Formats: sequence, C-alpha cells, structure tokens
Amino acid sequence: MTGLTRRQLLASGAAGAAGAGIAALAGCSGASVTGVSEPEAFDTPLPIPPLADSRMVDGIRTFTLTAQEGSWQFQSGQQATTWGFDGPYGGPTLRAAVGERVAVEVTNELPEATSTHWHGMHLPAEMDGGPHQMIEPGDTWRAEWVVQQAPGTLWYHPHPHGATERHVYRGLAGMFQLVPAPGSEAAAIEEQLPHTYGVDDVPVVIADKSFDEAGELVIDDGGNEVGLLGDVVTVNGVAGARLEVTTGLVRLRILNASTARTYSLGLPEQEMVIIASDGGLLRAPLKVTQVRLSPGERAEVLVALEPGQDVRLHSFAPDLGQVAAPFAVGANDAFDVLALVAAEELTASAEVPEQLASFGLDAGAVSVRRRFELQGRQINGARMDMARIDETVQVGSTELWTVRNLDLFPHNFHVHDVQFEVHAIDGAPPPPELAGRKDTVYTEPHRDYELLLTFTDYTDSQWPYMYHCHLLRHEDEGLMGQFVVVTPGQEADPSLISGADREHE
Ligand code: C2O
Ligand code: CU
Repeated sequence: MTGLTRRQLLASGAAGAAGAGIAALAGCSGASVTGVSEPEAFDTPLPIPPLADSRMVDGIRTFTLTAQEGSWQFQSGQQATTWGFDGPYGGPTLRAAVGERVAVEVTNELPEATSTHWHGMHLPAEMDGGPHQMIEPGDTWRAEWVVQQAPGTLWYHPHPHGATERHVYRGLAGMFQLVPAPGSEAAAIEEQLPHTYGVDDVPVVIADKSFDEAGELVIDDGGNEVGLLGDVVTVNGVAGARLEVTTGLVRLRILNASTARTYSLGLPEQEMVIIASDGGLLRAPLKVTQVRLSPGERAEVLVALEPGQDVRLHSFAPDLGQVAAPFAVGANDAFDVLALVAAEELTASAEVPEQLASFGLDAGAVSVRRRFELQGRQINGARMDMARIDETVQVGSTELWTVRNLDLFPHNFHVHDVQFEVHAIDGAPPPPELAGRKDTVYTEPHRDYELLLTFTDYTDSQWPYMYHCHLLRHEDEGLMGQFVVVTPGQEADPSLISGADREHE
C-alpha cells in the first residue's frame, strides 16, 4: 500500500474546515467549538525533556521528582501559568532497565494534593500512584518496585480522583522509558533500532491546549461531551515545533498526553513503520500510513528521511467509529503537528530487524470472563466510588474482559497493572497495530472489544488498581472502577479505602 495521495490529503483538510464551520453554525457554546488553528510557522526547536538523573542507593535506582508551579511559553509572545515535574511544564524522561529495582521519591510543591501514577507499569497496587496514594502539599511519597515487564514507552502523570484532567492539562506528564536488560536478547534488537536519546530516539508528547485572551490555559470549555478539545496542538510543550534530524532513520516515541483528543498521525505521501505499541515492541515492524492514538496511548514509529527532506507529522481527521456528531468530538480536525527537517548529510542507520519480539497470552487459559459497559460517566451502571471494590481477581489467572462503549461518542479503556492483548473486536482478530501489548485501547461506539489479561503477581486485598476511560473528564466524573488482585481464597477488603474516601471527598 502506498501513502495517501495529495487528493486524499486535501479532502481530509477540507473536511476539517467544514467541520469547524458546522460547529460554529450550530452555535456551540463558548470555547467548546472544535477545530485546530495551525501555527504560522514550524520553526521552534522541539524541546527534548532531559533524561532524569538517578542515584544508586543500596542497589536501587532512585529518582526524585518535584511537582511544582511555573510559567511556560507554549507559543511565542505568550506566557502561561503551568505545572510541571522538576520544571515549569512536563517532566524529565525517566529511564530504567528491565530487572532493575527502582524507586521514585515524589515531592509535592503544588498548592493542592496530587498523586503520581506510573501508567503502563506492572507493580504493587500500593505503589501505583492512583487516587489512594495522594501526596499532600509539602509531602514526599516514595514508590519502589522491580521492573518486570517488556521494555517500552510508559509515562507518569497525576491521578487525583476528580482532578486528573486539570492536573495533567496544566502540564504534569512525563515519559518513563523501560530499556532492555543489558546482555538480553531484547538488548540485541534494541541495538539495531535507533536508540540515541534526543538524536534518533525522540520523545514526542502531544497535548492540545486552549488559551484565554491573557494567554492563560483555559479548561472550562462549556462542557463538550468528550472534555476539552484545545485548538492549539503542542509537542513537548510547544506549538509549531521543528525537529532537526541527522540520521536517515528516526524513531519517534509518540505519547498522546491530551485529555480528550484522539489523533491519527502520519506523513503525507509517505509510509512510516510502527515498531511498538503501549507496552513494548510489536512482533514485527508494520508499515502504515496513519496510527490512531486516543488519550494515554503510545506508539513508537520509524520515519525514513532523505537528505534535506522537510516533512510534517500530520494528524489526519481521525476515524472515531460511529460517533453521532463527528465535528463536536474532533473527528473532522486535520492539522500539522511537528516538522521533521533532515540535514543535508544523514548518518546511515542499521537495518530494522524483521522480527522484534515474541509474546502472547493464552486464550485457552481464560478462567474468568467479565463485561464492562461504558455509558455516560458510568461502568455497568455505576460511577466510581473510592470506597467500593468492583472486581476481585485471582493472582495467576488469565481473564477475558469484554468492553463495550454504549454511547455514540468516544471512550477508551485503560487498565492498571497489566499489559493486555486485544483478542478480538466484534469477534474478529484486531488489526495488526492493535495486536501488540496494550494498556489503553480506543473503544469505538457499539463494538465489543475482547481483552486478554494475565495477572501474574502482586496481591493485595486492600489496595486496588483502577480501570477507566482515559478521556480525563470522563474518568474524573466517574467512568472508573477498582479491582484487587488476591491470593486464592482471599476476599477483597475495602476497609482501608473507605477511610481514604472520607478524607478525599
Ligand atoms: Cu494514565 Cu489510570 O491512568
Ligand atoms: Cu470516556
């Protein structure tokens, strides 16, 4: 298959413009009119979040992070009040190897309580940084665990119940990259992929923002049903960013850190190669024209460039499935995201291996089936209750969860603690880009997503993990549930969290 034709490209652009027009005609209130205004030029050097320092303390790779207030320039001539980790906006990239014991000490210098969740990480529930591990202003919280999963591109962000959208939107989000254990088979594969941080292995954190006349971030948007759709799209915190590429092949680790917007990213007239989904490498590289990413999802893609080439990473109008009002949920928006500008002389890169990873959960081992129906702000007819444990899972078991979006607008589904596999969509095998390890999946309206999950270890009858829609307004307003992983015969014990509930309500 070849890339999109110029005509197709123009067609999607035209649809975007028409969509914005319809939204305006329909008299959508206030700032909730969708549509994206592209920057005039893509000439701001792409900021690369620094790699976080760590120190080895008794064999533990120990990081520190401080959540703090600051001020940040998203676009020229404009300064906004923001929040960030170790800086005014975003956060440093944490990097640890598979097999390492890691600790992160998070200090909260914000004026209100927050938490720090390790999205995509397999770890004990008490270390998860969800809504039950709040950090009061002035306090430090320490999480410690051993990295026991595939290498991949994870991330960290706050998870305070009812306020996650606001905390993430203000800027609290960073990458947590897991690299292969030295000497492992995965390390040999990694060696053949672009892997020099900030040079040919580049974090691309996409987030849309909306500003008031004073240039401050706006979050009260008059209540769009998906949450906030900003009209300024930023990468690593800046609009109109440009990445100078010096290698023939560049690896983009793309994270959709937006609160509600789904993107469909690609290059005009050129394919790219997906090598990884949320939880690590795919089995084999996959050529695509676009990759759809809903909030919280990641993809690692390889882009080949010719000397002197100047291309734009573009977001095509995303296919969101059978939504009732596409223009209102961003389905008609198409715009450039990032300029990639190749040097006149490019360093050659290694051949991409034909096989990247092998893995696979066993559908034959499924012992429990559960069904999750998403509607409005509820799962199976109930809103999130901090004091209620919704599901109890036995350690060591493989389960099949069927998730269905009963609405005619977007939801997605994220599960803590595990990387799952999409077993089927409406009974058919998933498309190849969804056949890897996932922790978040977009759920098109009125389709059954069957997920395979194995809960290998870490039991705790008192501290729950979360599953929820990662459209953060939906999550905040109740589209979330809690599960515990227990040893056989053990029961869930909500006594601890019912206390936490009173404290944080
Ligand atoms: Cu990225 Cu429960 O979160
Ligand atoms: Cu949702």
